[in-house]
Amino acid sequence: MDSSGSLAALLDAFEEPTLIVRLGLVDLANRAARALLGEAIAGRDLRLAIRHPLALETIQAGRTAEVQLAGIGAADRPWRLAVSPIGIAGTLVRLYDRSPLESAERTRTDFVANASHELRTPLATIIGYAETLAEPGAIGEEMRERFGATIQVEARRMLRIVEDLMSLSRIEAERYRAPGEQVDLGEVIRIAIDHAAGLAERRGCRIEAMIAADPPLMRGDFAQLLQLADNLIANAVRYGCTMTSCTIFVSLYVEGERLQLAVRDEGDGIAPEHLPRLTERFYRVDSARSRESGGTGLGLAIVKHIVERHRGVLDIRSTPGNGTEAIVTMPLS
Ligand SMILES: Nc1ncnc2c1ncn2[C@@H]1O[C@H](COP(=O)(O)OP(=O)(O)OP(=O)(O)O)[C@@H](O)[C@H]1O
Ligand SMILES: [Mg+2]
Repeated sequence: MDSSGSLAALLDAFEEPTLIVRLGLVDLANRAARALLGEAIAGRDLRLAIRHPLALETIQAGRTAEVQLAGIGAADRPWRLAVSPIGIAGTLVRLYDRSPLESAERTRTDFVANASHELRTPLATIIGYAETLAEPGAIGEEMRERFGATIQVEARRMLRIVEDLMSLSRIEAERYRAPGEQVDLGEVIRIAIDHAAGLAERRGCRIEAMIAADPPLMRGDFAQLLQLADNLIANAVRYGCTMTSCTIFVSLYVEGERLQLAVRDEGDGIAPEHLPRLTERFYRVDSARSRESGGTGLGLAIVKHIVERHRGVLDIRSTPGNGTEAIVTMPLS
């Protein structure tokens, strides 16, 4: 292989679009660059190959430089363009895709905005009611009691949001640390069903458990797995018990080297357009109803992170009018 052949092979090893430009022409373009800018780009006049004015200007200057720009390839795809002179061979031009970075950044800013909004709403109510309570003789005894009760409800709600957020960040921080306990998932499910018993009774809802006899122990985090089961069962009771008498089915199966936990309800179900978004933080299908029942919209985000830490898969299936089923499959070790 001649030296330009081996240089081409070297450039092809780079994942990011990479060019060598010399004397105003595209001397070499790697595979990624050809995919982005067109197969026929090698040997072309640079001005025809890259029509982006800022990119062109930066490359033609021929000095070490970096710029951020959008509009090469797809219209709004963000790039970092790096130019490095490489002596008589010309100028090396690399394009780094910034979309993953920008989308992570967007997720972070959205999250901060959502969390602030969620906390601000109850806080505003608390301040309003507290101000009225602080005015001497402004309201009668009965109103005072009502205002006091509302302040408590809203303050508890804020506390729940903060606790859920702390829990979420703890689970995220442990993401790469494999859980080390030997857990009986059947036991976890029985405890979670116990936790939900009061709420289920108030809703006139029966919980039916089908738990494999003596399931093998799985390597996991007991507290997190309980939190997972609590969340799924609470959701089924809260949103899946719409009739006066209904049943929730909680099952645990052993499938080879995996355990499968499923929670199914007979409620109204969830429209398909909501399904992919359910595990987003603060996402609720019907925020008024969820808020009324004390939901923060963080439950399934927490579940998703716990499942990921256990190297498992979460699948939520639902047919409107026909109930919802959340299925978690996790390896034993
Ligand atoms: N079994 C279900 N049937 C119908 N809708 C559901 C079901 N489970 C969840 N949802 C919908 O998904 C939304 C998100 O659920 P998630 O558990 O993340 O939050 P939440 O229940 O509102 O709050 P939290 O779990 O933090 O108390 C709920 O608000 C509800 O609209
Ligand atoms: Mg929930």
